[in-house]
Amino acid sequence: MPLITWENKFSVGVKELDNQHKKLIELINELYDSMRAGHGKDVLKQILNDLLEYTKYHFDTEEKYFIKYNYYGKTEHMKEHAELKEKVMDLKQKVDGGKAVISNEILQFLKNWLSTHIMESDKRYSSFFNDNGLN
Ligand SMILES: [Fe+2]
Ligand SMILES: [Fe+2]
Repeated sequence: MPLITWENKFSVGVKELDNQHKKLIELINELYDSMRAGHGKDVLKQILNDLLEYTKYHFDTEEKYFIKYNYYGKTEHMKEHAELKEKVMDLKQKVDGGKAVISNEILQFLKNWLSTHIMESDKRYSSFFNDNGLN
């Protein structure tokens, strides 16, 4: 069973960004499944790396639009992105160095962070983006 499932309530009303959120959910589930299947460290490291890279790519996409349309909430929103990136990079370093392992707790954190961020922060830009013709 996947850890997190895409639902319509997650839609931010912009197709490209919804698709990116779906991909992030997919990567979190992949990491979860891999951990539960007892896959080796190298496999987990690779997925964590993919998740980090795709997260950066996704944040860059949202931020590109914040700047393009001069989104009123960009400073606060970008701060949340920066904090998560910092956390995941720190985690990756620890896992790579053998100082941490991917655990249920970490997966729960990623799941909660992503769903809360989409529901509370990302959804806040929906009508603003739509009003600017982005949908
Ligand atoms: Fe997002
Ligand atoms: Fe965001």
